[in-house]
Amino acid sequence: MKIAIVGAGYVGLVTGVCLADFGHDVVCIDKDQRKIDALERGEIPIYEPGLTELVKSNVASGRLSFSTELKSVVPDAEAVFIAVGTPSRRGDGHADLSYVYAVAREVATSVKGFTVVITKSTVPVGTGDEVAHIIATTNPNADVAVVSNPEFLREGAAIDDFKRPDRIVVGIEDERARPVMTEVYRPLYLNQAPLMFTGRRTAELIKYAANAFLAMKITFINEIADLCEATGADVQQVARGMGLDNRIGTKFLNAGPGYGGSCFPKDTLAMVKIGQDFESPMRLVETTVAINDQRKRAMSRKVIAACGGDVRGKTIGVLGLTFKPNTDDMREAPSIDIIQGLIDRGARVVAYDPQGMGAARELIGNIEFGTNAYDVAVGADALVLITEWNEFRSLDLDRLKGVMKSAVLVDLRNVYRHDEVAKHGFEYSSIGRPAGGAPDSAAEAAE
Ligand code: UGA
Repeated sequence: MKIAIVGAGYVGLVTGVCLADFGHDVVCIDKDQRKIDALERGEIPIYEPGLTELVKSNVASGRLSFSTELKSVVPDAEAVFIAVGTPSRRGDGHADLSYVYAVAREVATSVKGFTVVITKSTVPVGTGDEVAHIIATTNPNADVAVVSNPEFLREGAAIDDFKRPDRIVVGIEDERARPVMTEVYRPLYLNQAPLMFTGRRTAELIKYAANAFLAMKITFINEIADLCEATGADVQQVARGMGLDNRIGTKFLNAGPGYGGSCFPKDTLAMVKIGQDFESPMRLVETTVAINDQRKRAMSRKVIAACGGDVRGKTIGVLGLTFKPNTDDMREAPSIDIIQGLIDRGARVVAYDPQGMGAARELIGNIEFGTNAYDVAVGADALVLITEWNEFRSLDLDRLKGVMKSAVLVDLRNVYRHDEVAKHGFEYSSIGRPAGGAPDSAAEAAE
């Protein structure tokens, strides 16, 4: 099948390359000539494990190509995916749909024959109706079915998520789109991934509801972590004890410094706005947003407390800057607020991240960088682990202690255990776990 993907950003690129890998003929279109030139040279603008290799092999097989010319690609396509950005609109948190609508207008004047136009970008409820309206008014002769097909990819695991999804959600209003979408996803369907057909508005809402629920789940366990600290309980064991109930599930119950990234913060805000627009308030989501915002600054207070209540003139080493591991994405990363909070209180911050330092340099003023975990520990009054990259999971604690000014470790991802770190002479604090550690349950000990 011939497929055009408009927008060669994160979602567009991953979708395009995976669909090409399924055997479709895919052209990824982007207005940015430099981005297209780089992609043609095999240079991938984002860090995503496995993406570079997959792009190369599919370009080599002739199934994947790149173009800046929407008008020359779209007429041949049976399916056109819109995968352009929907950033938060400045001021009100609404998703900015101007890019989506601009593409809809261009697609309207370029399509030939029956074409399925699919919104992959995360868009508020009703956007598909508007896209259909724009296409119909721009070119009354255009024969299109507008479909909503939200993506559920996680950065750092996007290719695996695309190829082994929990489900594929397809919102249609025109039955002619059903066989086309079934054909697009046929390889996954053969792998028994549930292909859920529903109405277009329902599909749009599923995406926001899923992200808001996950953000709320994380926020819930973060509040439970605070309660654990106040009561001497252990949040990891609370999460496990809750999560073993199949109705709850163990995933997304890792307490931490608050969620970040390009999706949860933007989508929760947009969901609050959608609720207001439809006079159906999303009060749980509103509260989630507020709690998560406050949490990031609370984390710098936690570091300050671990440093004896004052960080003026002290050196804090930071391990990990990106909003999560295996990405170079710094958008809404908790590290930004945490580090700013420390710098505002007079600390000198030296950070290391395997992929995020380039972006961090632009976002955080007065920060210094090291070349690895041991380098940022030199002369530090405390080390703070903010992002759980694998290379921070088994640090040589004696070596760290040897170069630090004082052996203080603040672990905002609960990577270490109190007893093992204390054994090496560290003062250790983590999230929602008592200093002595709660005894493991019999079930865990038996594992
Ligand atoms: C998220 C969703 O997980 C995807 O399903 C969705 O497709 C995507 O947004 C999107 O809308 O495009 P992503 O933002 O890549 O994916 O990252 P997540 O793995 O969901 O992590 C988000 C944030 O939550 C990170 O800051 C992470 O550290 C934090 N988190 C996650 C926790 O603090 N605890 C957890 O247990 C899980």
